[in-house]
Amino acid sequence: MTAAALGFEAVFGRPAALVAEAPGRVNLIGEHTDYNGGYALPTAIPQKTRIEMAPRDDGLIRVATANVGGGAQLSYRAGEEARRGLWLDYVQGITAVLRDRGVAVPGFDARIASTVPLGSGLSSSASLLVALARGLRAMLALPIDDVEIARIAHAAEHDFVGAPVGRMDQMAASLADESTALFLDTRTLAFERVPLPAEVELLVVDSGVAHQHASGDYKTRRAECERAAEALGVPQLRDVDAAAEQRIASLPPPLDRRARHVVTENVRVLAAVAALRAGDLVRLGALFDASHRSMRDDFEVSVPAVDDLVESARAQPDVFGARLTGGGFGGAIVALVKRGSAAKVGRAVADAYARTPGRRATVLVGGAVS
Ligand code: GLA
Repeated sequence: MTAAALGFEAVFGRPAALVAEAPGRVNLIGEHTDYNGGYALPTAIPQKTRIEMAPRDDGLIRVATANVGGGAQLSYRAGEEARRGLWLDYVQGITAVLRDRGVAVPGFDARIASTVPLGSGLSSSASLLVALARGLRAMLALPIDDVEIARIAHAAEHDFVGAPVGRMDQMAASLADESTALFLDTRTLAFERVPLPAEVELLVVDSGVAHQHASGDYKTRRAECERAAEALGVPQLRDVDAAAEQRIASLPPPLDRRARHVVTENVRVLAAVAALRAGDLVRLGALFDASHRSMRDDFEVSVPAVDDLVESARAQPDVFGARLTGGGFGGAIVALVKRGSAAKVGRAVADAYARTPGRRATVLVGGAVS
């Protein structure tokens, strides 16, 4: 057994002083809207990142994880953060951002264990960042609220790690819970928790096709949105009225399609919140379906394997709607399923998927028989 597969005490020779956690998230609707100043509707998933910590008085930061290559341990000195292109950058990002904000970050030992799958579009990185920021808030008694925790986590990922992501994931990891959807205005970071109806459950199925966030495709989409906003004469696509269809259609391709996705997706989030409040699951499911089509055809962030998963989920009884969730280019789908049926639907979808050689799907949420 490698050192990091052991508990905190076995690794560091003393007990942990505190434990902090943060969940992964699944986005219900509102995709690629966050870096356009728009709306999103994520919810927390049961999988989480857990960090055990204890302060040190010599300025050394030692971090062990059980999640990378069977276990790993790395270290650096507080105040000497430097990007290495490794998982440790997320830890360094948080301590660097806190220091930039005037916090005297001391040394500490930390052990990270996460059940959030990597590369499935369920925000494993945001859950790590938020868990660590929470741990340091507790350790140093920092007077910061949960929105500030999300801002710190976003700055760490965006500015230090260098991933050009929006703010949805960090807000979800910091503020979402499993029984409500977090209706989020990513421009102001205003949020509202909307209860999920008791008659449905969520099914999340990973396609096994790994996505890469910092990858060129995400950056390209973001840049295309910025160009489209500029051509339309607005600060961000959030500011485009859905009635501006003609003007959107007059943009050069593919900017017309990119803008149409973002503008219609924002409208769909508002409609989804209204449907949730009204308990209108048929309408909500139709919005999931429309969101997937828009991501597939206009934003072009789906892949055939994910489209097949979505179609096969939709073909099952008791499914209200299904869509690709997260950044795309692989990753997972989320389906809205009648309560009590998710495990059955999950099995059927995974079995159908496995009929194509080389494909293997994993049910990540909704797999337990209820
Ligand atoms: C990734 C990013 C988010 C968001 C989604 C797409 O998860 O981290 O900021 O842009 O993709 O909705």
